[in-house]
Order: sequence, then structure tokens, then C-alpha cells
Amino acid sequence: MKVKNICCIGAGYVGGPTMAVIAQKCPDINVTVVDINEQRISDWNDADLDQLPIYEPGLKEVVNEARGRNLFFSTDVDAAIDAADMIFISVNTPTKTYGKGKNMAADLKFVELCARQIARVAKSDKIVVEKSTLPVRTAQAIKSVLSETGNGVEFQILSNPEFLAEGTAITDLLNPDRILIGGETSEKGKEAIDALVEVYANWVSNDNILTTNVWSSELSKLVANAFLAQRVSSINSISALCEATGADVREVSKAIGMDSRIGSKFLQASVGFGGSCFQKDILNLVYIAKTFGLNEVADYWEQVILMNDHQKSRFATNILKTLYNTVSGKKIAILGWAFKKDTNDTRESAAIYVTDELLEERASISIYDPKVKEERVFADLDYLNTRSPEENKELVEVYEDPYEASKDAHAIAILTEWDEFKTYDWQRIYDGMLKPACVFDGRAILDRDQLEKIGFKYYCIGN
Ligand code: UDX
Ligand code: UDX
Repeated sequence: MKVKNICCIGAGYVGGPTMAVIAQKCPDINVTVVDINEQRISDWNDADLDQLPIYEPGLKEVVNEARGRNLFFSTDVDAAIDAADMIFISVNTPTKTYGKGKNMAADLKFVELCARQIARVAKSDKIVVEKSTLPVRTAQAIKSVLSETGNGVEFQILSNPEFLAEGTAITDLLNPDRILIGGETSEKGKEAIDALVEVYANWVSNDNILTTNVWSSELSKLVANAFLAQRVSSINSISALCEATGADVREVSKAIGMDSRIGSKFLQASVGFGGSCFQKDILNLVYIAKTFGLNEVADYWEQVILMNDHQKSRFATNILKTLYNTVSGKKIAILGWAFKKDTNDTRESAAIYVTDELLEERASISIYDPKVKEERVFADLDYLNTRSPEENKELVEVYEDPYEASKDAHAIAILTEWDEFKTYDWQRIYDGMLKPACVFDGRAILDRDQLEKIGFKYYCIGN
């Protein structure tokens, strides 16, 4: 079977870029991305490509090439489902905030709603592809929702987790390490797998397309994220030891990363990992392990998150201690609010939690991020519910210029590794600050010698 019409439900950080690349690479396939959020769809359709709802290097060029040709963004979910022979589900699956599995299990309500909508609308056979990261055996649940409609339509469910990282989404999509497709081993299952393989084969070599059973595929996504996050927590645990002993974590990273068995990636010490996936997926893994009575397995993986929480808190505490145990009324400038560079995504960003701790000490916070808007910063802080929105407004100011943000500040905290921070006129920043002027580098990106020569007191994570 040759796929001609694809529909993707969810025009977010995963659905948007992924479908844009599929459309670019498969001009014969019509790709329609739908979302219930009207604003999001209208932003994706904006004539000004700088207004796309997501910032990703290279994204606007891809959208520019395919949009209107074979890439469409719409809020008409029913029509897109009806026309499609393959439907990707790419809606968000946040951690549950209520009921059984609260704060741990993934909330599948949006996924189930999608399945019900597909069941209601579909008049012809469809392949349904799980793109969202889901707990193991969700495909089974989707299948039962779909097959109980009894209108004679046949559904095949595939698991096709997305491994792109934000900030490098387009290059990751164009050159994936692997494409993973899980499906049933029945004849129909194999046909569905082949149909999706054929889509990717337009630009990915067959050697890099891996097919497995559905459960292996679902579990592999959670495990990949858990292993990556574990590396970050591992190096962050060592960063604390480096600070205590006089070792430099950057040197340790380099030294261990040159061992080809360890490898050099994901060894950058930081103020803690963020993003929509790592914490959520590990909590999910922990929950699944507990469900099967595997408590030691659950505890083992939970430690990765506890270490990450500790790292954020340790960083905030260090700022407090260095500023003579009081930051009340002192201006502290936060550079970087996104959870990593080259994205405007702030979900679970370490900056939110560090700032929250400083606000609890009544610090006066100024914030600058090259891509994050003021409304987003306040939405993130208000969401924590530690203080009222009025208090947050009173204590926090968001700037569009880093020099303004740091003016009259006692300290600067670097919380995202944006490249532009390295190119600033640090002498000018120093001149505008109160003395002693401190820099707390939560990403170990600045040059100690340069800053100390200017006169800064420089504190670097892991050194
Ligand atoms: C995705 C995945 O789906 C998630 O499971 C994975 O772990 C991370 O990536 P992401 O694309 O980052 O999520 O989420 P988000 O940017 O929130 O986009 C989801 C979109 O789905 C939103 O635009 C939302 O409006 C839309 N949505 C949600 C629907 O269209 N219908 C729904 O019922 C629910
Ligand atoms: C991750 C996975 O990499 C990706 O495969 C999956 O599809 C979604 O989750 P993402 O969250 O977009 O991607 O970004 P990633 O590059 O993995 O970074 C996650 C967090 O870890 C960021 O806060 C980043 O700053 C931090 N990190 C990463 C470190 O602190 N040190 C490192 O060495 C690497």
C-alpha cells in the first residue's frame, strides 16, 4: 500500500517539524497537520515565517518550501482524518496531576480523545501511528478503542517514536540515527509497517530503519530518554564533587569521553536537565516498574530525577550563600530561560526552579532570553503556584536587552547555554553592575580567566 494522504493530530514541537520534513521529502504525499488550538494553526499559517509558533533553526526554510504545496495546517480535524490513509497522533502526554498515578503516570486523555475521534470519523481503513511518547502497551488500548466502533473499518496501529531533540530538530529529522517502527507481526501489521518504511525511505537509508514489535518500540523510547538523562545526572553528580575537590568537570568530561566505550556526548555539566520529555518519561518508567512490583528498578531510575532536583537546588543555594546568605531586595539577572539553547521551549526548564527558589528569598529578578517572550516567563512562574501572579509581577522583570537586565545587579546567573552569551561585552556588563559583581555559570560556558581579569567573582558549575 502506498500512502497518499497523511494527517497529523497535534501541531506542537514534535508534530510540526516532523510533518514539515516529511512533506518536504515526500512531495507526492499530502500532509495535513491539525490542532484544536486555533491560534497555533493560524501561527503556522502566518505569511511572516518569523511568526511560526516554534523556533527551530532551519524550520522556516522547510515550511516555506512545502507549505501550500503538500503541507497544510488546519483546525478541521474531522476532514483531515477522513481524507487520510495514515494518521499520526502527536498530542502531548503530560504527567498526570490527579488520581491514580498522580505525578508519575502519563496522562493519556488527549491520546484517547484522538482515538475516539478517529473511530467516529473514519469511513475507510487507516493506519494509526503513535508519535507521542507513550507508556508501554498504549497501542493495545488505542486498538481496543478503535476496534469497538463496529463500523467495519480496519485499523492498524504502529508505534513510531520521535527521537529529535529540540534546537536541532531539522538536522535530526533529516539525518536520524535510526527510525524505529513497531507493529504487529500479522500480515496486515507487516503491510502497515512497510507502508511507513516506504515514507521514510524517501530520505533515510534502509539500514537505519529498524522494525520491532509494538511493545519494544514503545519501551525503547522511554529507555532512550532515561539513559540520556542518566548521563546528565551522572556528570552533574560529579560536578558537585569537582567543586569540592578542585577538579574541573570539563576536564573530567573530556577525559572520560575520549574512552570510546563511554563516548563524548551528553557529558556537559549543567544546572540540571529540563525539557518536556526527560522527567516525564522517567517518571513513566518508574511508574511502570512499580506497577509490575519491580520496586528496586523503580528506585534506581527515580534517583536520576532526584539528582536533577538536587542540582537545581544546589545551584540556587550556592547563589544565596555567596551573596552573604541574603538576596532579599538584591537584583539578580537571569540570562537564559529556555531549557536549552536554540529553542523557545521552556517546559521544565531549570531556570524556572532556580528563579522560584530565589524569589522565595525575596530576590528581585530580571530575566533575559533571546527567544522567550515575557508572557511565557510569567506563565511558567504562575504555574508553579508558589506565589500569586501579582507577587511574581512585583518581583520579576523581563528585559529585551541583556545589558539592561544586568544593570545594577549584584549577580548574573547563566541558565541556558545560548552561544550569544559568550560574545557579550562583559566589561560593559561589569561596569553596569554593583560590586562585587558575581557570575554564576550554570552551564560552564564562559571563560574564567577573561571574567576574573575584568573583576568578576566567577562561579562555574563543576569547577
Ligand atoms: C510531543 C509528544 O506528543 C509528547 O508525548 C512527547 O513526549 C513530546 O513531544 P509536543 O509536540 O512537544 O509533544 O507537545 P506540544 O508542543 O504541547 O504539542 C501538542 C499539540 O497537540 C498542541 O498544539 C495541542 O493543542 C494539540 N492537541 C492536544 C490537539 O490538537 N488535540 C488534543 O486533544 C490535545
Ligand atoms: C530529548 C531527547 O534527546 C530526544 O531524543 C527526545 O526525542 C526528546 O527528549 P530534548 O529534550 O529536546 O530531547 O533535548 P536534549 O538535547 O536531550 O536536552 C535535554 C536537557 O538535558 C536539556 O535541558 C539540556 O540542556 C540538558 N543537557 C543535555 C545537559 O544538561 N547536558 C548535556 O550534556 C546534554
